Amino acid sequence: MKIILASQNKGKVREIKSIFENSPFEIISLYDLGNNIEIEETGSTFSENAFIKAKAIFEHYKEPSIADDSGIMVEQLDGRPGVISARYAGPNCTFEDNNLKLIKELSNYPEPHKAKFVCTAVFYDGRFTIETVGEINGIVINEQRGTEGFGYDPIFIPDGYNKTMAELNFEEKNKISHRAIAFKKLLEKLKSYYGL
Ligand code: IMP
Repeated sequence: MKIILASQNKGKVREIKSIFENSPFEIISLYDLGNNIEIEETGSTFSENAFIKAKAIFEHYKEPSIADDSGIMVEQLDGRPGVISARYAGPNCTFEDNNLKLIKELSNYPEPHKAKFVCTAVFYDGRFTIETVGEINGIVINEQRGTEGFGYDPIFIPDGYNKTMAELNFEEKNKISHRAIAFKKLLEKLKSYYGL
């Protein structure tokens, strides 16, 4: 059964596809389809934005679609960057620009900088919406370490670890990440939705 994944982020696509490997679902991303459609994320929550993306892709392809919206929430910043995680340092900024901005901002606060990654995953097929959430707690550190993953991974140490998410290998990150948690839950719900 084919499901379109509303993402062009190679890091995300790889993580999500690996969760659906050996499942009854074949995940085809916008990246695979060579579609670089820009979907404006105008929502004020992860849930709203994930639904906006899943619905836009369903309407384009008329195929069941899944999307996620995710980001990092820092306790001392009242949950920021949150939904604006991708563009925290401004339009067209790089992952590194965001990391450096966050490190600079947090230098005004005492350590530890408690934070969490949050991911909302949404399935939409024109009739039903299924939504799941995954979270992982940790701290933001004041330097970038590691080369794996993407986004804020080099400055985030998950609770119980002494490595940043970018120092964990792909399999390790994909066992514990917010995205893995959300999409594993979604996979189970999809199996029961389709009676598989
Ligand atoms: P989205 O593509 O609108 O969901 O934005 C997600 C943004 O949040 C990314 O561009 C990253 O900056 C950040 N983010 C989400 N998930 C992760 C992750 O697994 N590791 C590091 N950063 C992440």
